[in-house]
Amino acid sequence: MSRRVLAVLGSAVLALSMAACSGDGAGSGGNGGDKPADLTIGVSMPTQTSERWIADGNAVKEKLGAKGYKVDLQYAGDDIPTQSQQVDQMITRGADVLIIAAIDGTALSGQLQAAADAKIPVIAYDRLIRDSPNVDFYVSFDNYKVGVAQASALLVGLGVQNKDGSKGTATGPFNIELFAGSLDDNNAHFFFNGAMDTLKPFIDDGTLKVKSGQTKIEQVAILRWQQEGAQKRMEDLLTSSYNDRSKVDGVLSPYDGLSRGILTALQNAGYGGANKMPVVTGQDAEIASVKLINDGVQNSTIFKDTRLLADQAVVAAEAFLQDKTPEANDTSTYNNGVKVVPSHLLPVQTVFKDEIKPILIDSGYYTAEEVAAGQAKS
Ligand code: GAL
Repeated sequence: MSRRVLAVLGSAVLALSMAACSGDGAGSGGNGGDKPADLTIGVSMPTQTSERWIADGNAVKEKLGAKGYKVDLQYAGDDIPTQSQQVDQMITRGADVLIIAAIDGTALSGQLQAAADAKIPVIAYDRLIRDSPNVDFYVSFDNYKVGVAQASALLVGLGVQNKDGSKGTATGPFNIELFAGSLDDNNAHFFFNGAMDTLKPFIDDGTLKVKSGQTKIEQVAILRWQQEGAQKRMEDLLTSSYNDRSKVDGVLSPYDGLSRGILTALQNAGYGGANKMPVVTGQDAEIASVKLINDGVQNSTIFKDTRLLADQAVVAAEAFLQDKTPEANDTSTYNNGVKVVPSHLLPVQTVFKDEIKPILIDSGYYTAEEVAAGQAKS
């Protein structure tokens, strides 16, 4: 039953009997007494072209399903109007809670207002929804630290720094290029800021040189995080800034999909094999990229355990369904332009080749066979 119907029923019951008031907040009498099978959670995911979002969608659906909830899972094909329409439909079909990973963090204010009017709590999933007061909770990772970890992995790959953070033996100078994600994704800015704060001292002292001179996020961002966009930009960089026989030594890439595009451009230009592949970072531990790390092509990725993120989304959704407030572990970082959204942030782990087994295989995230094949079974 939808929260709207419950809101009406709830106040009727309240008017009839004071005993109905159990003091459990939220005002509607809520869904507290409802069986999971009577409750629907709308889950809106951005795209199926990236394996990580498929894993996220599956994990959230499975975990909610295991508790008996109905799940309305939709993917929007990275198309903003499609996502708006899908969220609208979830609301009209009577969702009791919404879990949304936005394509464009600023494009859903209208839908979120409709959700608020219908008393449907909204959980922003991994990507913060901006410019709306109607975001009730945010589950994500420490996104600034993701950027720090990516830059640190680049420094380790170049030999400038050791894994423990101590000074490495290499002194450079090294030619690097920078990439960022989609400007309409709040996370892209956090990743880039974390990375740049970490790289800046090394750029300032000449250890690292951004040969193209492109160091502003607006210059290095890739719309919708598209692999082809990253490949094209890397090709352009090679033509414009490395046509003098100079070599690229490292590339800061904030996402495995972009890293694969960058690596393709580099391979097409003759890098790899005897011609040392530049140090290329990543994020998400997508299986195709884990294989590339295992094969010594990609340097590293940042692992964000989507199983834990899905768990947190489910915990938050259940809290709302029981008219409780989900427990935040951060109430200061994520200002969405209107308010600070209470958040639950998870830690991240850097995966170089040596960490594939202990972090990804031993934890059951992937099997050794999947890593070898570069393809996940489910
Ligand atoms: C971000 C997310 C990253 C990566 C990227 C591209 O919002 O935090 O982990 O998945 O989108 O999908």
